[in-house]
Amino acid sequence: MESATVGLSHCDSWSLREETKKTTMSTFHSKDTKAYQEPSHSPMHAPLSLTSAAHGLPTSATLAMNEAVAKRRSAGRETIHLGFGEAAFPLHPRLKTAFAEAATRTGYAPVPGIPALRQAIAAYLTCKRGLTFSPDQIVVGPGSKPLLYALLQILEGDVLLPVPSWVSYAPMAKLAGRRVIEVETDPGDRHRLTPQALSQAVVQARGDGADPRILLVNTPSNPTGCMFDRADVEALALWAREAGVTLISDEIYAELAHGWREHVSPARFYPEGTVVTGGLSKAFSAGGWRLGYAAFPATTGGTRAVAALRSLASEIWSAAATPIQEAALAAFAQNASVEQYVQHSARIHGYMAGQLYETLTSLGVPCPRPAGAFYLYPDFSPWRLALVEQGIRTSLELAHYLLEEWNIATLPGSAFGEPPEVLRLRLSTSLLCQPEDATSSDEREAALWRLLDQADALPPVGEVGGPTLPLPALERAQARLTEVIHYFSKARPS
Ligand SMILES: Cc1ncc(COP(=O)(O)O)c(C=O)c1O
Repeated sequence: MESATVGLSHCDSWSLREETKKTTMSTFHSKDTKAYQEPSHSPMHAPLSLTSAAHGLPTSATLAMNEAVAKRRSAGRETIHLGFGEAAFPLHPRLKTAFAEAATRTGYAPVPGIPALRQAIAAYLTCKRGLTFSPDQIVVGPGSKPLLYALLQILEGDVLLPVPSWVSYAPMAKLAGRRVIEVETDPGDRHRLTPQALSQAVVQARGDGADPRILLVNTPSNPTGCMFDRADVEALALWAREAGVTLISDEIYAELAHGWREHVSPARFYPEGTVVTGGLSKAFSAGGWRLGYAAFPATTGGTRAVAALRSLASEIWSAAATPIQEAALAAFAQNASVEQYVQHSARIHGYMAGQLYETLTSLGVPCPRPAGAFYLYPDFSPWRLALVEQGIRTSLELAHYLLEEWNIATLPGSAFGEPPEVLRLRLSTSLLCQPEDATSSDEREAALWRLLDQADALPPVGEVGGPTLPLPALERAQARLTEVIHYFSKARPS
């Protein structure tokens, strides 16, 4: 898959090959007679050979890009990092204290999560999303990512995926042995997903011998930053009910709506057929804590799915880390200060995405207006001819070019399921608030807290005027993208 090599130089794969060669050679030339000896006869199968699903499986494009940026920076190469979506505000002090107090809890937690946390998540989903769950319907795990993969292992059927969709869904589905059925969205209308497109995809998939039974949706969306409006959510949910399709609603960014469009869960309209997932990574800036949840319908099917997921978890990860679960209680329990922290971070993320969106649209770059999370999904096709003259025909080539020639890290649309020649890129704005002059982590934290404190003074999203925040990384990204577009425009063949 082409996303495998996003942002990675040829040296990376070369050095890996060299490592492998060295290891192999030292085994062969060992003088230690106790060391393992290759059998003299030819074995039926080579040891450590891979399954076809694992063969050539690349590192997730977003993590590969983040590693590539870290390498560039440590080699002293300036990089404007729009390639990784990580919420990086300081941890709320209540979570920090709760974690410190729970540090000595070294015993395993119950497989589906500690009861108090499941209770808190159920109450949180009622309060924030208007959804009703009992603690028994909640399963906590080490991040929502493994939970999503586990869901694709236990639920029946092939998987309907809107295009574009988050990088990991399709590889997860394939690893789980499922076929991926791509569903068109409307780029001219904020990547809307319609029942018509879904029905069309299902008819075609059935004709091809697939059995589409699962639909995975993500609003606010990674990669577009768009959100479905209420009417669209209702229409999708009713379509899924009518089609007997299980909806997995990845709501990891729900708390990071920017304020001009309400987040509505499809579980409001199709509670008996929707599994909701979420976690600590985005709203609570705690991705490294690896804590997520899945919430299941209160039906016989839902109860069976919870039991299957518990069994699968018991065989694979046993339970999420106990101190992290204890600390997560402080995130999901109602608390005015934590709620304000989440609102402020949503506001600052909305500000950064909004500012870069204004820059792009003022330059004539088609880009849907972001409504949540920290992503933009611009389309560079107006400059296709100029790009072709530079030998750039695909989004992957465009992403490479921007990294190598302009020091801008992005991700290509092809990593999100788009055809290679579609010239869309995903830009992530989450790291543009990082203070550049901080000399210690304390200074960095203090600067980020000062920034969060300014959130209330910002005008509502989309309104002009009001204070602007001094964010040098954001300003640099705006200036560099302006230079790039001016350069493309000058080079545009008439
Ligand atoms: C759409 C989407 N879903 C799920 C995840 C994974 O979240 P977690 O950290 O809970 O595993 C991410 C992380 O980037 C994401 O963007």
